[in-house]
Amino acid sequence: MSETGALDSLLHEDRRFPPPEPFRRDALISDPAIYDEAAADPEAWWARWAAELDWYEPWHTVLEWTPPHAKWFVGGKLNVCHNCIDRHLEGPRRNKAALIWEGEPGDTRVMTYYGLHRRVAKFAHVLRNLGVEKGDRVAIYLPMVPEAAIAMLACARIGAVHSVVFGGFSPDSLADRIVDAGAKVLITADGGYRRGTLIPLKNNADRAMEHTPSIEHCIVVARTPSTARELDVRMSAGRDLWYHDLMRDIEGGVPCEPMDSEDNLFILYTSGTTGRPKGVVHTTGGYLTQCQATTRWVFDLKEDDRYWCTADVGWITGHSYIVYGPLANGATVFMYEGAPDWPNRGRFWHLCEKYGITVFYTAPTAIRAFMRWGEEWPAKYDLSQLRLLGTVGEPINPEAWMWYHEVIGEKRCPIVDTWWQTETGAIMITPLPGVTETKPGTATRPFPGIEAQIRSEAGEEVKAGYLAVTKPWPSMLRTIWGDDERFRETYWSKWPDTYFPGDGARTDDDGYFWILGRVDDVLNVAGHRIGTMEVESALVDDHRVAEAAVVGKKHDVKGQSIAAFVTLKEGHEPSTDTADELKQHVVEKIGAIARPELILFTVDLPKTRSGKIMRRLLQDIAEGRAVGDTTTLADPEVVRRLQQRYEEG
Ligand code: PRX
Repeated sequence: MSETGALDSLLHEDRRFPPPEPFRRDALISDPAIYDEAAADPEAWWARWAAELDWYEPWHTVLEWTPPHAKWFVGGKLNVCHNCIDRHLEGPRRNKAALIWEGEPGDTRVMTYYGLHRRVAKFAHVLRNLGVEKGDRVAIYLPMVPEAAIAMLACARIGAVHSVVFGGFSPDSLADRIVDAGAKVLITADGGYRRGTLIPLKNNADRAMEHTPSIEHCIVVARTPSTARELDVRMSAGRDLWYHDLMRDIEGGVPCEPMDSEDNLFILYTSGTTGRPKGVVHTTGGYLTQCQATTRWVFDLKEDDRYWCTADVGWITGHSYIVYGPLANGATVFMYEGAPDWPNRGRFWHLCEKYGITVFYTAPTAIRAFMRWGEEWPAKYDLSQLRLLGTVGEPINPEAWMWYHEVIGEKRCPIVDTWWQTETGAIMITPLPGVTETKPGTATRPFPGIEAQIRSEAGEEVKAGYLAVTKPWPSMLRTIWGDDERFRETYWSKWPDTYFPGDGARTDDDGYFWILGRVDDVLNVAGHRIGTMEVESALVDDHRVAEAAVVGKKHDVKGQSIAAFVTLKEGHEPSTDTADELKQHVVEKIGAIARPELILFTVDLPKTRSGKIMRRLLQDIAEGRAVGDTTTLADPEVVRRLQQRYEEG
């Protein structure tokens, strides 16, 4: 289907799904009046949410807004770890499961709030003994094990700023992030499981630490059996320490450090339009307020739910909706280490049945993979405990939405399609499951207290254009670590005092928002954000490559895949081997998520007369479309030759 054809059919989507009556009856929120109430005074509204947290000292001002810098709950003091754990210990949640975990090999662990508290308080003590002080940065490079959550919460407890790096990133990517943040301690594991093989995390960390002078200590969690000799873990005396030794030797925990509402909680790196990932900075009071509010209302979270978000803690979804939001609500969180198709394609549904999962939150790319694997997999398991489903990370196509609704939700479960970003910290546009009539493919309306619009380049409100967030919100990023200028330039320069998220969107007659995807040079591959320039830099880092241009190419399961157009230096000939080696080079530089699916060699790239590569034309070629306007090209012949090569395969 052509681009416009697909868009038209999307906008004529008229299947409507009001909240199922039994769901609505029991929902925490079922009255739409809540939207008007919030809109009448958003600051007062957010302040009511903030008041649900425990504060050591109250704030004196809800919002100080000196665009583009916002401060929320100014003057207030609180601690995130206290709010996620300690405050639940008084009362029946003390013995409630906080974390239920299953490893890929099938090993399991359960931690009550009491048990989680004990580990976190002790580990916070360990960190402090190693000299980690309030404001110091701690890098975390772990598989999906409970220690990832423990490490994050322990940092929050003593006011250290964590920077979690997804375990799939390469040593180079890890090193760049450690150097940028100036992290003092790195927490990693010997290895982690992925589809039955062991990922050598400590070895990767060793390679990274060759370039990270700021690291004083590396703490290593023993995840794999000591018989896993293939990992060949080496501990450097003085620098490297085993987590279990430190935890055994430490006496007791440390109390929570009272933090200013605007103290930094964490840095999380994400891809932008330049080659260098940016460290998105989140702070304390506003972030936790919005995480708590959205987790409770969007997921209709109740005391006896078993909640599972399938993200990795290395991404923002894992931060806000595995750790901070659910634990702030005293929920039971299920966490799984491995892949959905290991040892077979029924693993997720087996886990839903085994643990009685009631709320399930995943990504459209996963749903499309499940669709492809067939209904027979979910059909083998009892999914009757599920009552609410969510998606995040990219636009969900109506077919995938319907499949999710019918096959996984058995037509009983509302679906919340949640739009947000690393930068927004928490959910921004989403249905409220007991209120909103949903339609397949739209994230519907801004969460109460959030204001968004669709705008033209010139800033007028239009039916189709750019998504804009028009008022500050509590969990917004505060800056880019070490680069406030980039913060202003990237998000706040399009329109005055308005946040530009980088997404295109349309609205419909109900005023719903249909998010159409990125309008900048950022790709979304299987729900992962990757900058075209990052991949291009990795390619030109190879000594044979003269120039590279990377574009996204539509992909049935991943949403997009990476296509790279490469020109080689004099004396190097294109070949399948070279293409494979270049793909591998990108994997080594960035990580497997950035592997180009297609490399096309060319003697020239289409450029404007001022020398700018025309990626739009390359995308037309990669997606097999008629090539758009070429009149601004310096040499239109280039495109014809490229197209010919592409068609020849
Ligand atoms: O393009 C939007 C897309 O994911 C981008 C944010 O990516 P990241 O910072 O990695 O965070 C992902 C998880 C919050 C957005 O700019 N996106 C996210 N959710 C949706 C979405 N696009 C459409 N619909 C969504 N529900």
